[in-house]
Amino acid sequence: MIKFPKEFIFGVSLSGPQTEGWDGKNKYSVMDYWYKQNKNDFFNCVGPDVTSNFYYDYKEKLKWIDEIGLEIYRTSIQWTRLLDDFETLTINEDGYNFYLNYFKEIKKRNIILVVNLHHFDTPQEILEQGGWENKKTIELFLGFAKKCFELFGDIVDEWTTFNEPLADVDAKYLYAWHYPKISDFKRSIQVFINMIIAHAKVVVYFKEHFKNKKISIILNVTPAYPRSNSKEDLKAAEFKNMLITNSQLDLVLKGIVSKDLIIFLQKNNLMPDVKDEEFAFIKKAKIDYLSLNYYQPSRVKAKESVKEDDELMPESFYDVYDWPEKRINPYRGWEIYPEGIYDIAMLIKNKYDNFPWIISENGMGVEDELRFEKENMIMDDYRIEFIEEHLSYLKKAIDEGANCFGYSLWTFIDCWSWANAYKNRYGIVEYDLNSKKTKIKKSGLYFKNLIDVKKA
Ligand code: BG6
Repeated sequence: MIKFPKEFIFGVSLSGPQTEGWDGKNKYSVMDYWYKQNKNDFFNCVGPDVTSNFYYDYKEKLKWIDEIGLEIYRTSIQWTRLLDDFETLTINEDGYNFYLNYFKEIKKRNIILVVNLHHFDTPQEILEQGGWENKKTIELFLGFAKKCFELFGDIVDEWTTFNEPLADVDAKYLYAWHYPKISDFKRSIQVFINMIIAHAKVVVYFKEHFKNKKISIILNVTPAYPRSNSKEDLKAAEFKNMLITNSQLDLVLKGIVSKDLIIFLQKNNLMPDVKDEEFAFIKKAKIDYLSLNYYQPSRVKAKESVKEDDELMPESFYDVYDWPEKRINPYRGWEIYPEGIYDIAMLIKNKYDNFPWIISENGMGVEDELRFEKENMIMDDYRIEFIEEHLSYLKKAIDEGANCFGYSLWTFIDCWSWANAYKNRYGIVEYDLNSKKTKIKKSGLYFKNLIDVKKA
């Protein structure tokens, strides 16, 4: 068992849309709407109305916080559950009471409560008015954030603005995996930068009004590795890192866009519309720490051939490399590469002034876990191994001076995974969709032990 310093914190991350269940009384988020339109897009047709029933039985579920000894708990407020009107900020009383009581119940424990404001769940009504392509959405989001701070500012310990803006953009505006299933490189960049402007405006407001509280943003980082050390492959990896990792870190930590990225955007007619006064917010927004989600790396090689009439995509500038030696989680199709966490830590240490950060998601989704049940417990040794391997690389980085202060696992209790619904389970606590009962998995006991050893 790896022993972490006492001040290092362990916990879990969740999100509103993936855990609460949707009782149909409030407005539609894009996910609710997508499900209403096309249930067949979701594994076994299970939608956001089901999820893990927290809306009704969070009290019972929170007992696992005590059982495991968790120290940090992150969830999100659904914009559509809290508000009935996004312009006038009229509160939905049921939604408000739910969040108030839920958060109070969490805070009865000695645990840090982190609340996120956007987890892929833009209101459908706002999407129909242009969504994040429309600058008005930035102001609506700021209004929503202010309302959340006003209502829950006393209970919530720390806030985050967005979960993985880049993943949201990839899924909805670039690779068309999620509704509204758009594939347009230029539009995706506009959506992303508008989210970052919204993030910045919220952070600037928050820091002016809540001087002693902390705020962060959750970014997904997938470091890109080249096939070989050839000049061309190295260039491909450098390009991808510039586009997806450094671009995000530069914006939120330094308030800058690199010269190379500007040249690339200009050359390819991808430059988004950002006014000087909007960029001033990005420069001014100082988060207290960075939250990073790490699941998998990406592997690239030099572009082999370019066809003139191909649609412009990030992959127009590199090819995806299928590394024959990779280890893979076959259920999700993601490579398992724990070394990636060390490389991220070193990147932050060496290029971003060792800014403080937390692993805010890392985890493994596995299908049909009941086949691993023995004596009434899911023996998820693969998950334990996954966590342990990632933690050992994280520990190595910390020993070498990385400024990472915590690890928050995805996830607590099995939850709804968007279009994959309940196909892959990520929890250290099992959730039975039929009986609605929960049960600890072997990984839950492992996590408990990890925390106990650290505290001892
Ligand atoms: C993260 C998201 O990117 O990955 C979570 O923040 C998500 O919402 C997690 O559930 C795992 O991905 P998936 O698609 O398997 O649920």
